[in-house]
Parts: sequence; C-alpha cells; structure tokens
Amino acid sequence: MNARGPRQREQEIEEAAALLAAGKLVAFPTETVYGLGADAQNADAVLSIYETKGRPRFNPLIVHCADLAMAERFARFPPLARRLAEAFWPGPLSIVLPLKPGHGLADIAIAGLDTVALRVPDHPLALALLRAAGRPLAAPSANPSGKLSPTTAEQVRRGFAGKVPVLDGGPCRAGVESTIVAIDGERLIQLRAGALPRAAIEEVIGVGVEQAPQDAGIAAPGMLLSHYAPNAHMRLDAAPQPGEAFLAFGPAAPFEGITRNLSASGDLHEAARNLFSMLHELDATGARTIAVAPVPETGLGEAINDRLRRAAAPR
Ligand code: TXA
Ligand code: MG
Repeated sequence: MNARGPRQREQEIEEAAALLAAGKLVAFPTETVYGLGADAQNADAVLSIYETKGRPRFNPLIVHCADLAMAERFARFPPLARRLAEAFWPGPLSIVLPLKPGHGLADIAIAGLDTVALRVPDHPLALALLRAAGRPLAAPSANPSGKLSPTTAEQVRRGFAGKVPVLDGGPCRAGVESTIVAIDGERLIQLRAGALPRAAIEEVIGVGVEQAPQDAGIAAPGMLLSHYAPNAHMRLDAAPQPGEAFLAFGPAAPFEGITRNLSASGDLHEAARNLFSMLHELDATGARTIAVAPVPETGLGEAINDRLRRAAAPR
C-alpha cells in the first residue's frame, strides 16, 4: 500500500480531496497519529466526525491547515504565536488562538468557543491533502471515542469497520498526539503534553511552558481522565503478575507472559512511536489485564506517561 507510484498517489489525493469537498470524511496520516478529517467549514461534515467517533459533542477539534497563511484566515496570531508557528510548523504543535471575525469555521468544530486549536501537520500526505482540498480540515484522532489512537491505516480500518476511506501513509513517525499550548499574553500554557516536548519549546522560544492547572475549565478530551483506553484493564506497574500481558520499557526482567517492549534501549522516541501500536497488539491478544512499566517523566516521557495514566484510569 505504501509502494504506490507518484501518479497513483496523486490520484488518490485528488479523490480524497473531492470526498472532503463533498462533505465526506477521509482518514489521513499525520506525523503524530491518524486523523479523521472533514471540511472544518462544513457543519454537516464535522457532525459526521462526532457521529462516527461516538464523541461527546462538547469537545472542540483541532483544525489542520496547509500552512501559516491558511491558518491566519481563521485566527489572530499574537507575536508569541507567530514565533511558535514559525519555529514548529509544520510539526506536532497545536496552538489555541483567538478566532477572527468571519472565520467561517463550523460552530460544531470549535464547540462554540471563541478560540480555535490550529496546527500544520508535518506529513507529506497530510500536507498534499490539505493543499489539494484547499480548505482547513477538522481532524481528531481516527479512533472510536475513548479508544486507543491509531498509528497505522490498518488500525483505522479496524476501528471503523472499514467504513471510512483511509489514506495509507504507513506507521506514524511520532506516535503520540500533538502538544497543545495556549497563549496568555507573554505566558505559554501547555494544555496537553504531546509529541513536542516542553523543553524543546522552551529552548527555541525562550519562554517557560507552564502546565495547565487540572480542571482549568478548558474542555479537552485529552483531559478526560479515562481516555485512550484499550479494552483490557491496565495497571501501571513494572512487575507483571502471571496471566497478565506486559508492556515493558528498557531492560526488563524476563516475564513468561505476552510481552512487548516500548524500547529495550530506553529510547523515548522509539517508545512514543510504539506506544499505541503495542497497546493495540496486546489488547488484540484478549488479555484481561495489561501491566505497564512507567517511563521516565522527562522529554517525551511526559506525554507517554500522560497517555498511560489515562488508559489505566477507572472507567
Ligand atoms: O496529533 C494530534 O493532535 C491529532 C492529529 C490527528 O492531528 N489530533 C488530535 O485531536 O489529537 P483530538 O481531537 O483527539 O484532540 C484535540 C484536543 C482536545 O483535547 C480538545 O479539547 C483540544 O484539542 N482543543 C481543541 N480546541 C481547543 C480550544 N479552543 N481550546 C482548548 N482546547 C482545545
Ligand atoms: Mg483522540
């Protein structure tokens, strides 16, 4: 599926863009996870995202743009936002910004807020699709609500029982969702830890990134406690019990049961890339409980532990 010729690719993208223009959904790869995309200015199209995912209506979606110029059609960019966009777009950073009057985005995409989360994804297929469509795409992760995010086209097809067309770009490079930040004057507030580590932002921008207080009143599904959940129960514990499946990290003690290792060498990039796929795999074994070793809370570890805690939260 990845061995398509450039002509075929082009045709596939044209077809996908035409579907989007007609108000249909198309799943597409980004560098983080696969997104379930719809024309962000078409309320009916966006509504079918919520229906297809079974997602609570109040959650606003990230609006994906082809470039900064497209993004500027919808939101005001204060100086700090512009610096972020110029430094990290295309890339795994979503920026929450004040909407411009006459933005034309569907109310249901932004959940009636006066802000919008924008991002330019760093994936050739996503960018080609955004350019061909010539319109902003609202796209949450392409999984049924509350389930694991997909990092392969096959996971998307399985999640929606083949009902949504998927552009296949192979496995996602980053493997966890984008980092979401809001701007408050000269302050930067992280609403969701993600594929762009906080330290990377601080280093480039020279502004400390604050963690959003819990219950900041910002509706974010990434903020719902039980989210990104496999069917199996999950336990955060580096010591698996007999009968459990085990998701290890780093050099792990030998274990008899079904085991995957996020990164035997303890590499957090590799761990992020493997996170959802390995959870999908362990879940597919029918294991009742998955024991998961926590990872160090540094760099990408913040996003990984965040997803693990939510997957393990009581439902
Ligand atoms: O990597 C990603 O970000 C993926 C890919 C497909 O781009 N998308 C993704 O979207 O994770 P989703 O819908 O699963 O998460 C969107 C997050 C939610 O937590 C939502 O509440 C938050 O963005 N969000 C959207 N608009 C917001 C706003 N105006 N203010 C605060 N949070 C917002
Ligand atoms: Mg999601």
